Amino acid sequence: MERALVQIALFGLLLTLVTTLPNKDDWDIYSFHVNSTVTSRYATTVITSRVANRMDESKEIEFHVRIPKNAFISKFKMLIDGQEYDGVVKAKEQAQQQYTEAVSRGQSAGLVSSVGRTLEEFKTSVTVAAHKKVTFELTYEELLKRKLGKYELQIHARPMQPVKDFKVDVYIHEKASIDFIEVKGGLSTKALANAITKTHADKQAWVHFYPTEDQQKTCDSCGDQGMNGDLVIVYDVNRDTSLGDIKRSAGYFVHHFAPSSLPRIPKNVVFVIDQSGSMYGRKIQQTRIALIHILNDLAEDDFFGLFTFDSSIFHWKRELVQANKENLDSAKKFAQDIETRGATNINRAVLEGARMLNAHPREGSASILILLTDGDPTTGVTNLETIQSNVRGVIADKFPLYCLGFGFDVNFEFLEKMSLQNNGAARRIYEDSDADLQLKGFYEEVATPLLTDVTMIYAGAHNLTQTNFSQYYNGSEIVVAGQITDNDIETFSPQVVAISRNTSMAFSDTNTGESTGTVSDSHIQRVWAYLTVKQLLEKELQLSGPEKQNVKKEALELSLKYNFVTPLTSMVVTKPLGENTDVLHKPKEGATPWAQQHPVRTGQRRLRLKAGSMGYRGTGRSGITGAGKAYLVPPMLDVSRMYPAAGKAYLVPPALDVSQMYPAAALPDINIYSVPEEIAVAPTIVPERATNVPLIHRFLLKTETQSLPLCFDVTGDVRLKLLHHPNRELSVNGELDSVVHGGFKRIVIHFKTDLHVEVDTQRITVREGQAVTQHTGQDLITVGSLTVIMRDKEIDVAAGDTHMVILIHKRGDKEFIWPVLRQQPSDNNVSGILALKTAVYEEMQQTPSTKLKIKDQEIDATRSIAVDYSIVSALTLDCWLMSAESALQRRLDDFIVTQL
Ligand SMILES: *[C@@H]1O[C@H](CO)[C@@H](O)[C@H](O)[C@H]1NC(C)=O
Ligand SMILES: *[C@@H]1O[C@H](CO)[C@@H](O)[C@H](O)[C@H]1NC(C)=O
Ligand SMILES: *[C@@H]1O[C@H](CO)[C@@H](O)[C@H](O)[C@H]1NC(C)=O
Ligand SMILES: *[C@@H]1O[C@H](CO)[C@@H](O)[C@H](O)[C@H]1NC(C)=O
Repeated sequence: MERALVQIALFGLLLTLVTTLPNKDDWDIYSFHVNSTVTSRYATTVITSRVANRMDESKEIEFHVRIPKNAFISKFKMLIDGQEYDGVVKAKEQAQQQYTEAVSRGQSAGLVSSVGRTLEEFKTSVTVAAHKKVTFELTYEELLKRKLGKYELQIHARPMQPVKDFKVDVYIHEKASIDFIEVKGGLSTKALANAITKTHADKQAWVHFYPTEDQQKTCDSCGDQGMNGDLVIVYDVNRDTSLGDIKRSAGYFVHHFAPSSLPRIPKNVVFVIDQSGSMYGRKIQQTRIALIHILNDLAEDDFFGLFTFDSSIFHWKRELVQANKENLDSAKKFAQDIETRGATNINRAVLEGARMLNAHPREGSASILILLTDGDPTTGVTNLETIQSNVRGVIADKFPLYCLGFGFDVNFEFLEKMSLQNNGAARRIYEDSDADLQLKGFYEEVATPLLTDVTMIYAGAHNLTQTNFSQYYNGSEIVVAGQITDNDIETFSPQVVAISRNTSMAFSDTNTGESTGTVSDSHIQRVWAYLTVKQLLEKELQLSGPEKQNVKKEALELSLKYNFVTPLTSMVVTKPLGENTDVLHKPKEGATPWAQQHPVRTGQRRLRLKAGSMGYRGTGRSGITGAGKAYLVPPMLDVSRMYPAAGKAYLVPPALDVSQMYPAAALPDINIYSVPEEIAVAPTIVPERATNVPLIHRFLLKTETQSLPLCFDVTGDVRLKLLHHPNRELSVNGELDSVVHGGFKRIVIHFKTDLHVEVDTQRITVREGQAVTQHTGQDLITVGSLTVIMRDKEIDVAAGDTHMVILIHKRGDKEFIWPVLRQQPSDNNVSGILALKTAVYEEMQQTPSTKLKIKDQEIDATRSIAVDYSIVSALTLDCWLMSAESALQRRLDDFIVTQL
């Protein structure tokens, strides 16, 4: 009760403080409009924001909006004091060169950046004089893609304050008539739902969203700063002819083909699942769940295959089998039991999947290969181009390959290229609580093939976008655009030829499409340009050499002509005199900064090694290479042994002082395997508490002499026998911490039969028979012949001839404890980790790998580092890393206890 009262009082005080602060920063967004017009699935959206500086001094005003990743920005302008400043689209290199100065000052680089799964952020600012206003106007365009039977238009609103005049207007015109329209997203919840009006009239629909200032504070993600969320307009169109929708204007056409009244084609599908170490934890758990759901959805006339891979292949069955109940039950059991281990041999896995499909030709069916991976190839064939050419060779256009990249440690560009080269597509699966649903959602998109070998033929037309599609799935749509030769409708004749099950089908129509708009209407032409640029960019990714340059040039020319900000162009925003010019680039999918996706947390550290395989030499020097990129690690770091997630994200032991690794240039004695082009790109090393990788604790075993100590790792939050001294009836056990990376969480000292002292970072609990006492400050505790002295960062424990110190260390903002034996008991009968004898070894050969001789046994060891926590100021030492068994000269299990 008392607590509650205090909280209320504090809260009241805070409120008072806020309301009495003078409102110095007086500027407001007095109007914010979003106007989106969708015609034939092509959406053009204009965001207009009007801001007033009501202060007596000039003020930098920011314009900050989020737009769909799929969209191209096509226009941006600012209006200040009657003067208009227009953004100009230029070739990226040119823009960059012209404005290197601005870019190098860091003020304008990357002003468009990826955020989340579907959005990208556009940000610019301008200085506005006292009592003046500014209007920002941004236009972007996108072709809505039909997925699972619907189109979605996403509008994001986060003006950063409640806005007096806030409006979203969406107007949809579909000549094929609108089947249904719904409004979803966070902005359609709570009181905001009342601000939406929806009108649906056959071929047209309107959505208006005019929330009041009060309403703007009440939705699922809104607050005092106003709205923050999405309005998602979901709709589909009716399809009356099987040939679909053709629209023409000003000599261009666009054809939407999405027949739905066709029978499904039985499919042959093979699931290739990465089970390498880095899939450990939630990823593999979600994969199991998704697989089981997916298996449930297979139809009885489907055939399927399933296997997992790391460096080897683990078959459920070597050949495809029918999806009957018995097989599905057995496959589900297999899926349920998938465990993680090992490296990633993508080459072998994809080739095996293709082999299985090739070994199962079946007339009237559609074959699909689905690869799920969370990392780069790290073993077997690791050269990306070799893998791609191998895969192309075995698939030979017979079926599509879909690649699902799980998380941000994948080389997404590699997956994308490989799937595009094989008539498929790549999809990123975001590491999140709904990853299983994302996997299942993707599967559903390809679950129902309706046609194979779809060829779209347009007599009397040229400059066509892609016309051949290996498969067409229910709920999706094929879109082709082109130019009608001489704008001659008489000779223009569209036709679709495809295979439905085992029969050839032709779709044609005397209707050559409705002409819309005036001759000068450029709308269809823009759809054509949008689609052409998108496809050229995909093609560019797959090619190399002069072919790549030609395609790039073509894409660039179109981007410039149609004013699209694509990955090849930039928008240069010139501002009033004296202000920096902004250069806006479109970010590339897959290039999302990893650190941004994984906010820095305290505790553990993670070392991200982008792209690639890994090389290690036991000579005490190592380099990590892959995909033409290499990142340096200190010679002491034995990556191959310490980190199960080889080639992906590495968990760095507490021993590793990351500041020493960065920048790379500071480590001149490193042996680099392949000299990377991007040596300047330092590895992203961020302290982070990784949740899904077992924790590694490193122990040091010192030597009498000057030679290097030995070290070994203990993984996970195990309980260890620290000291057992039967003659004194003394035993000490410790529990390793599962939260803090590196030490013990609790240590319990048992003395005689009924005295138990538990030590953690906060307090000491003494149990003597039934009596329990707790000690938190500096204190002296004596119970019989046991003395415990509590000091600031250490606790002294003395019992007869045994003297132990428990040190409290700090890592980040987390504390852990570490026991040190200060006086070895004279008795020979003692055991436990703390009672281990000092190490004695002999160094044998150095290359190719180091061997140490311990008690006549040859042991593999690698040069590494460990932190010595046995002293108050922890120190990093070089050491010989080996298995716990080798270092301890017995099984680790002998030191593990079940109970503290
Ligand atoms: C939205 O934009 C369209 C096309 O530019 C225009 O015709 C319409 O009047 C605008 N609507 C509003 C509410 O501004
Ligand atoms: C395709 O999707 C439509 C609409 O969702 C559905 O009515 C139809 O049954 C589906 N066709 C097949 C073969 O599953
Ligand atoms: C598309 O398919 C047709 C028929 O299968 C073939 O003749 C044509 O060469 C293909 N076109 C392209 C661009 O691959
Ligand atoms: C076509 O497929 C159906 C069912 O899949 C089968 O009954 C029929 O025999 C096939 N026809 C030919 C010519 O293969």
